[in-house]
Amino acid sequence: MIYLTLPYNTLASQEKLVIAHRGASGYLPEHTLESAVLAFAMKADFLELDVVMTRDGHLIVMHDLTLNATTNVDEIFPGRSGTNGKYLTMEFSLAEIKNLRVHERSNKRGSGPAFKGRFPYESLLFEVPTLEEMLQLVNGFKQSHGRVMGLYIEIKGAEIHRQYNLDPAKKLLAILEGYDYREASDPIWIQSFDAEVLKTMRQKHKTRLKLLQLIGENRWRLSATDFDYLKTEVGLNEVAGYADGIGPWMNHVVTGKNISGDLKLTGIVTMAHHLNLKVHLYTLRADRLPDYAETFEDLLHIFFNLVQVDGIFTDFPDRAVKYLEKTSLH
Ligand code: G3P
Ligand code: CA
Repeated sequence: MIYLTLPYNTLASQEKLVIAHRGASGYLPEHTLESAVLAFAMKADFLELDVVMTRDGHLIVMHDLTLNATTNVDEIFPGRSGTNGKYLTMEFSLAEIKNLRVHERSNKRGSGPAFKGRFPYESLLFEVPTLEEMLQLVNGFKQSHGRVMGLYIEIKGAEIHRQYNLDPAKKLLAILEGYDYREASDPIWIQSFDAEVLKTMRQKHKTRLKLLQLIGENRWRLSATDFDYLKTEVGLNEVAGYADGIGPWMNHVVTGKNISGDLKLTGIVTMAHHLNLKVHLYTLRADRLPDYAETFEDLLHIFFNLVQVDGIFTDFPDRAVKYLEKTSLH
């Protein structure tokens, strides 16, 4: 563990990325075309998108493998849930999903919003976009504004898709090829918590696109990937063989403050940088601050300036862009 004392005094020289997490999701329901438009207007460098598949093989933009937490599926399709009350995306066709409306994310009990003070929970103004609609939107901006917003796409739930004979990674690469995303220099990253998905994309599908290994906690049971191993020097060395960066959870980087008030750092960023891996950290939220940061700007300062990550996923891209402009790190 490394200890670091505030106030901060270092300035990073390299460009820092602001990645709009599920769009500008602090202001509009996540993963809607509207939240992507707002992210572009806020000058985010990248737009983060999670993708899952429908029964008929379309990639839709959605974080969960189920429709429960962000749509009105229970009103539109009563009786179509599994015995556990869950509506799996891969049990619905795209045409059916297009009948749904998207709302602000529910809390785990489904009794209200996950984040208080965000867009009104009762609002049902939005629809579920496909990946292709998002690609058309971002490409449209390129033509109409002459500015590029990169894409940062996460493949969710490879194992459950396999059970439904669906292969989101293969489909994703085929779609991206059609939109001319082919090279490492293209403005796109592909991310996954599942090491096997990334290895397959690199080694079997031979993609040259930039890949990022997300790092979670084994207790989250996201895939067979052993995150405790990946966080070690040996593990990171293995990651460097198939990916271009890591995406740690912020608790993997800063674990709090010691009794002298110094930040406790794990050292994972330094290890990753030694291996030439970029570090894009998730997820900074102005309305969910860790106890070692008093303000969101304080949090941005810690990660951009002190820890020197290369990018952050945030629900509040405008505040991160402003912070970087003010401190000339952008
Ligand atoms: O992809 C970065 C971050 O989004 C990972 O967490 O659960 O929001 O997909 P999650
Ligand atoms: Ca994600």
